[in-house]
Amino acid sequence: MTLFLPFTLAKEEEIKRIPRIYLDLCIKPLVMSIKNVRLEVMQAIEPKVEGYINEFLIPAEKIWQPTDFLPNSQSDSFYDEVEKIRGEAKELGYDFWVTLVADTITEEALPTYESWLMDVEGIDQHNGKDNGWSKWVRAWTAEENRHGDVLNKYLYLSGRVNMREIEMTTQHLISDGFDIGTDRDPYKNFVYTTFQELATNISHKRVGKMARQKGNALLAKMCTIIAGDEMRHHLAYREFVKTIMGQDPDGMVLAFADMMKKKIVMPAHFLRESGGSIGEAFEQFSNCAQRLGVYTAQDYIDILKKLNAYWDIENLRGLSDEAEKARVYLMKLPDRLQRISERMQFTQDQHTFKWVEANGML
Ligand SMILES: [Fe+2]
Ligand SMILES: [Fe+2]
Repeated sequence: MTLFLPFTLAKEEEIKRIPRIYLDLCIKPLVMSIKNVRLEVMQAIEPKVEGYINEFLIPAEKIWQPTDFLPNSQSDSFYDEVEKIRGEAKELGYDFWVTLVADTITEEALPTYESWLMDVEGIDQHNGKDNGWSKWVRAWTAEENRHGDVLNKYLYLSGRVNMREIEMTTQHLISDGFDIGTDRDPYKNFVYTTFQELATNISHKRVGKMARQKGNALLAKMCTIIAGDEMRHHLAYREFVKTIMGQDPDGMVLAFADMMKKKIVMPAHFLRESGGSIGEAFEQFSNCAQRLGVYTAQDYIDILKKLNAYWDIENLRGLSDEAEKARVYLMKLPDRLQRISERMQFTQDQHTFKWVEANGML
């Protein structure tokens, strides 16, 4: 193995000098097999995915739908219910609306996430409709789709936000795509989704709590039920990672550490307002969320600690030297981030977003 390994790292010109027959018979299969470990692991787990779908996702007939929480437009009481929503919405402040709008837009960019996941190695939508992984991605997308749907309709009825500006931002975000640093690697993608699902659980849950404190029961219910979905998704993705960890601990630990070195960026990190440049609105929104306490640097650290604990990074043994270094890095990272976060400062200056008119309430 070590004899051939340097060739896997060789430059193109060097490979050209290797006799063709030697390349075809000896080197190519070896390089392929190193590259395909992930594919093999994904294929080995694939028969279990049907079980994950049954355990962690809920069929359309049994799960909540947006209309369960919104005024029924076929009912005579529709206008009264809308009036109630509009009245209650007046109690909510500026940072709250900005955060809710950005959370909604993040959910609405689902086409980006589905197309990204469908392209991940091992999630093969073309290899028969019954491939477990692609079935998972479709079923997960179908659940997620309800989040943007219910929040968008709520925002529209609330009368507190500029829907056209929101719609333009959503169109920009989908069109701009994202780059979450995972490439097509299933290991890195599952670390990312595990992390993100818990982050969205936290933020929807807190928004729901704030809505309830301001007497906005309907919005509180919506956000809480969305948070419940995100938690189920989180539990599923962390299970995928745990299962992979059992098959390829070296590869999984390295992928986890690599993602944490790059930092887990938010899926809406390219957020922009109409006429703005990519990512400009994201920083302003993050300040709002941090100020409001909806999603903070401390949450990021706490999520990392939970992942380290669930995947039992502390007690993993028998790793390669490189993976062992990655393991030690992961164990030390929460304390390191804690020290950094204590020095972090966030602006209290409120940016005025085109999505929400200034109303003087934080
Ligand atoms: Fe969601
Ligand atoms: Fe989710």
